[in-house]
Amino acid sequence: MTANNNASILILPGDGIGPEIVTQAERVLNAVAEREGLTLTLDHALVGGAAIEATGGPLPEDTLAKARAADAILLGAVGGPQWDSLDMAVRPEKGLLGLRSELALFGNLRPAILYPQLASASSLKPEIVSGLDILIVRELTGGIYFGQPRGEFVNDRGEREGFNTYRYNETEIRRIGRVAFEAARKRGKRLCSVDKANVLEVTVLWRNIMKELSAEYPDVELSHMYVDNAAMQLVRAPKQFDVMVTGNMFGDILSDCAAMLTGSIGMLPSASLDADGKGMYEPIHGSAPDIAGKGIANPLATILSVAMMLRYSLGQAAAADAIERAVSDVLDQGLRTADIAATGEAAVSTDAMGDAVVATLTK
Ligand code: IPM
Ligand code: MG
Repeated sequence: MTANNNASILILPGDGIGPEIVTQAERVLNAVAEREGLTLTLDHALVGGAAIEATGGPLPEDTLAKARAADAILLGAVGGPQWDSLDMAVRPEKGLLGLRSELALFGNLRPAILYPQLASASSLKPEIVSGLDILIVRELTGGIYFGQPRGEFVNDRGEREGFNTYRYNETEIRRIGRVAFEAARKRGKRLCSVDKANVLEVTVLWRNIMKELSAEYPDVELSHMYVDNAAMQLVRAPKQFDVMVTGNMFGDILSDCAAMLTGSIGMLPSASLDADGKGMYEPIHGSAPDIAGKGIANPLATILSVAMMLRYSLGQAAAADAIERAVSDVLDQGLRTADIAATGEAAVSTDAMGDAVVATLTK
């Protein structure tokens, strides 16, 4: 990746805690840019519920145009109970799904890393999770999330019937497979492909394509696992995994599961990449409407998403390393937002956590 010192970045705060955490991530981005001598052009736009309120739809044309033009996108979170009753086609989530699909961001990287400082925040015993470092590669623009036909109709017994379609073609499977094999090659060289090939034809094809691809990656050890077993293994013995690759819906579920191993879903960043490395970066958690506006949300997943953005879309590894080190430092300093604080331990605010990361970066 060639270094981009003049990147344009679109910021989409979204809903719920989105604006609070993105504000902190933006401060960190500005601080690291100054430190590393990067000139960044930042722009903002509406997505999700915030866009519905302002424009009537979750993904305004203007937002999509800006997203297409930007080198990278940073997104907070979308959704909230006030929009839950809306028709599926205009819900806040459609803003996010529309961006993923319009920009062809098919390759979703969801690392689950346990910071040693947080071993006691995990719901699992420290010996099961200490040293955990997994990468989930989730296909993001296909599968049952996007498969046609879909909908609801009244069947010939006069009752309502809903349906979705789980489908993948070879091209879609092969390109996400390559992302995963390449990632595994740079890490522990083990790839576990997760499917339901004992029941679903589409995942029999998935498994076969993964096997075909493995011929091109003799240095990577490929294994296969059914998704139900994978969910169990993730909480039983998660360190057996290096890289996991799976379809859209299985990846959605398994990445939430993996998140809890690390202590809090508030710690996990993600990258959603197209074929050329352009990407959208977001925490894997949602908009957390129950704590929105209280100033207690953990901004670290979004801050770590900025690090991924610098690494994967802007070719700025040094800046990315600096952010990741700063996050580890503030954890060493004992700073904890409520989600990662041990029982009885004092928690800091969203802003205080952002302040600490910025201070550590500019020290
Ligand atoms: C995620 C989220 C989204 C998804 C929702 C908000 C549409 O859960 O990014 O994991 O299901 O992909
Ligand atoms: Mg999810």
